[in-house]
Amino acid sequence: MPQPTLIPHDKGMVSTTATIGDHVTLGTNSRVWHQCIVYGTEKRPVHIGKDTQIGSQSHIKPGVTIGDYCRLQDGISIPDLVTLGNYVFVGPRVTFTNDLFPTVAKILAHSYKELETIIGDHVTLGASSTIICGITIGAFAQIGMSAAVTKNVPPFAVVAGVPARILGDVRDEKYRIKYPELIPLYERTYKSLSDKTPINTKQ
Ligand SMILES: CC(C)(COP(=O)(O)OP(=O)(O)OC[C@H]1O[C@@H](n2cnc3c(N)ncnc32)[C@H](O)[C@@H]1OP(=O)(O)O)[C@@H](O)C(=O)NCCC(=O)NCCS
Repeated sequence: MPQPTLIPHDKGMVSTTATIGDHVTLGTNSRVWHQCIVYGTEKRPVHIGKDTQIGSQSHIKPGVTIGDYCRLQDGISIPDLVTLGNYVFVGPRVTFTNDLFPTVAKILAHSYKELETIIGDHVTLGASSTIICGITIGAFAQIGMSAAVTKNVPPFAVVAGVPARILGDVRDEKYRIKYPELIPLYERTYKSLSDKTPINTKQ
């Protein structure tokens, strides 16, 4: 299949089939692929870091920040006030939320209550997982496919299920074999974080 044509936007490149609104900054070597919709506002700009890829048919709304070296797969909807750190992998069809109890009546009354959601560095969000708003997912956490994440996830936790429960820790022997590429990263860069953060696998 031929690649869609890319044109420059800010410091990166976007598909000619993507719609990029105002107040969107794109870092060096980043790409926004075909049929994406990305727009910010003056009060809520969108920032996408360097060397990050946004998969086709994704929709990114005002106030979203995406770090460096992220890989977002296809068809991802990111509403206002979601922040992704660096090296975040977002599987296809991941869903974020931004109001715990949305109703049309609230929207019409302008009382929609958006909560901020923060995804740490090196997190993976499995395919079709759904992330409740107002939570933090700690660095290196691995979220299973189709998980419904309803509360904060500690750094390094491996979680899955509906609602998501902790299966283990990426530093466990079982997961060190499965994620060998992460070992030098957390042992070197995130040692202090690992020292401070005990993982409760019985949650
Ligand atoms: C969550 C995950 C990391 C767990 O890996 P794991 O611990 O090696 O998985 P295991 O096969 O050892 O399974 C452990 C248990 O969790 C269950 N489990 C695994 N993944 C699950 C999931 N996503 N949802 C619900 N339960 C899951 C298994 O059935 C098993 O249960 P059991 O002990 O009752 O038999 C992995 O299954 C996963 O979902 N990875 C994400 C894949 C993905 O979305 N890739 C996107 C690429 S585009």
